[in-house]
Amino acid sequence: MPKDRGNELPRYTAPGRPLGAYPRLRARRNRRAGWMRALVAENRLGPQDFIWPLFVVDGEGVSQPVPSMPGVCRWSVELLVERVREARDAGIPAVALFPYVDPALKTHDGEHALDPGNIVCRAIRAVKAALPEMGVVCDVALDPFTTHGQDGIVRDGRILNDETIHVLCEQARVQVEAGCDVIAPSDMMDGRVGAIRDTLDAAGHEDASILAYSAKYASAFYGPFRDAVGSAGALGAADKKTYQMDPANTEEALREIAADLAEGADMVMVKPGLPYLDVIRRVKERFGAPTVAYNVSGEYSMLKAAGERGWLDYDLVLLESLMAFKRAGADAILTYAAMEACALLAEA
Ligand code: PBG
Repeated sequence: MPKDRGNELPRYTAPGRPLGAYPRLRARRNRRAGWMRALVAENRLGPQDFIWPLFVVDGEGVSQPVPSMPGVCRWSVELLVERVREARDAGIPAVALFPYVDPALKTHDGEHALDPGNIVCRAIRAVKAALPEMGVVCDVALDPFTTHGQDGIVRDGRILNDETIHVLCEQARVQVEAGCDVIAPSDMMDGRVGAIRDTLDAAGHEDASILAYSAKYASAFYGPFRDAVGSAGALGAADKKTYQMDPANTEEALREIAADLAEGADMVMVKPGLPYLDVIRRVKERFGAPTVAYNVSGEYSMLKAAGERGWLDYDLVLLESLMAFKRAGADAILTYAAMEACALLAEA
């Protein structure tokens, strides 16, 4: 007759320990308390990992919410400086500035990008004057300044590579002369990193860094960003597939990264982020260079939308997905949620 065990659960006793290391080894011992999990964590997330992208708009006292990015605003310059001060106080090392350009200032060739008095240059000067210790990153690309919303010079429906590079070099120089620390070419023209490096060096700006958007995919996850900078309407139904990468490819991403590093990129970027963690991992392993991930607008808005509906716990999925970037090998993460993440990490 089997013994009546009542509520007692059966327990494995391992008479001869025949299979593997269990039960001598129990992975759960390292997970049994918060202090223990903290001790054995392989990756850590902190304010120093973040670059906070911010949108700047003309005017004074202006904060314009971006409807497709809940919690994100376009700020006029003096309010932008306040945001950057908050980022500094939270321990974030750098911000990335993006302009919303008055549609009246947009042209077919985007000449306003070269005006040292444009909104992005004014924002750079104001931030660096108030907070010289903060890193300032700026895109080099023409899309906020062109009537067609493409990143380059367009003739007969084609985006011209070499003519565009010529303009991007000047845009980079103007932004560095306004005080930008890190030039981030996001246009995906071939050869722009080397040309920008030469231009900056010839102008005596050898300390200005280049963060190359090297593996930048033609992605629909950029939709909300294009609302924020006001290029969505201009772009219309057109796409950027003749210069941004095909989401089907990773070998090509490695060739792009190799080329940009050879041309003088100090840091490389993979963009978008969460759907491309495999690319981040391969890039980090292959090159060992500072690797930056862009947690793009659509990734941010997806979590926000699900959180607002109560379908996901926003705070938890945010920290989990930011940690995923670290696990994949990213050294820094551009994320619109940088300040939220800092607040959550400070509480934890
Ligand atoms: C502009 C640029 C884009 C983003 C950063 N710089 C959009 C695009 O290439 O169309 C996307 C950022 C985001 O979605 O958060 N060249």
